[in-house]
Amino acid sequence: MTTRREFLKHGAATVGALTLPVSARAQTARFEELTARAASIQLAPPSYPRTEIWGYDGTMPGPELRVTQGARVQRSFRNALPQASSVHWHGIRIDNAMDGVAGLTQPAVEPGQTFDYDFVAPDAGTYWYHAHNRSVEQVARGLYGALIVEEDETPEVDREEVLILDDWLLDPETAEIDPDFEAVHDRSHAGRRGNFIATNGHPALSLEVRQNERLRLRLINAANARIFVLSLAGLQGWSIALDGMPLALAEPLIDALILGPGQRADLIVDVTAEPGETAHLVRVEDQEGFSQVAFPVSGSASTARRDIPGALPRNAKMEVGEIHGAVPVRLNMQGGAMGTLDAAVLDGERKSFRELVNANQFWAFNGTIGMTETPLAELALGQTAKLEIYNDTSFPHAMHLHGMHFREIGQGGTLGPLRDTLLMFGGETRTIGFVADNPGDWLFHCHMLSHAASGMMTWIRVA
Ligand code: C2O
Ligand code: CU
Repeated sequence: MTTRREFLKHGAATVGALTLPVSARAQTARFEELTARAASIQLAPPSYPRTEIWGYDGTMPGPELRVTQGARVQRSFRNALPQASSVHWHGIRIDNAMDGVAGLTQPAVEPGQTFDYDFVAPDAGTYWYHAHNRSVEQVARGLYGALIVEEDETPEVDREEVLILDDWLLDPETAEIDPDFEAVHDRSHAGRRGNFIATNGHPALSLEVRQNERLRLRLINAANARIFVLSLAGLQGWSIALDGMPLALAEPLIDALILGPGQRADLIVDVTAEPGETAHLVRVEDQEGFSQVAFPVSGSASTARRDIPGALPRNAKMEVGEIHGAVPVRLNMQGGAMGTLDAAVLDGERKSFRELVNANQFWAFNGTIGMTETPLAELALGQTAKLEIYNDTSFPHAMHLHGMHFREIGQGGTLGPLRDTLLMFGGETRTIGFVADNPGDWLFHCHMLSHAASGMMTWIRVA
């Protein structure tokens, strides 16, 4: 069946080819658009009014962008918002100029303007895209979507579901998005946390399944600050990828799965609940379980249970390299409420904690708040870096490195899985290693977006 949209696209191309001179045709050969604009959706339960959000193509989440490994992603971003914006492709190893960081890799795209994003997706995995200008506001208003890069050979499952988890800070009566994106308490404590929880923009997502069905779940934490602690009920599961990158072995999900803001996990789950029962992806909060996604089991088993799933094919060339000769970099995270920071450098000047509070800036890296003229580290292309990070604050932080994945270096040099976002709890010291194999200026920041907006942001240069 041809959809109206395909028909229009096809029709337009034919008309262009027949009637336009070559030069005009080149000018009109634009990428498909991705437009950021306001829209209204039923975000809170049905007894509430609809909520005005900002979404890509007016949907929340934005359209799922899905390509196969090695294919090209081309989108002309159009900004129909009342403020400047940009699109960041979180976790994907791309050309620096396409990374979408307003103020670092490109100027912000002003209202009414466009910017063409064009890159090859080198590694299979679960990624996402989101606004990267005033992110604390724009992501909270709904500017994100999934970017899925499929393996050449996908694992054998009956179906796949992309589940984007988020929480929303809404007025409890009008369901309007709380417009105070600079709240002092959010910035200085655990970040902007919502009072309404949703999956793919639904307050209570329910997906019908059959017993013994095997699903691949692609989980994405798009929340500004919430850490999702997840477990399974009526499902048996394995973790097969984290932050898009395949694990060496499918790991049985026995303990809770913890997803910090920005992090992803690919799970294989088998429905073990009986027909008539409901399985759940469970969100654990204060030792209590809540249904994040319900899977009512309809109909009886049609197939037998399958064997333990295998690992996904590895992505090429994603290694940490020689840790021994690695360039050491030290990062102290300081500040916030109940912290030890009594002064820090802000805009080149030393400020007391009181002055910082007045400026609504709370967090420092190595004694400095926010972006600096010089990078945290300048690495030669191909060099391996070893970053020792000390969280000298009372709060967890989700540190995200743009452009490259890293591995955690454990005691005795053991290497953890490849990741792009490291969730760190207060008081922890953790070390990560990565190969600086992607040239450019790459942001390194806390994905708790109120923290990033109040100081937790730095950058690394690879040249
Ligand atoms: Cu997902 Cu710098 O961001
Ligand atoms: Cu943080």
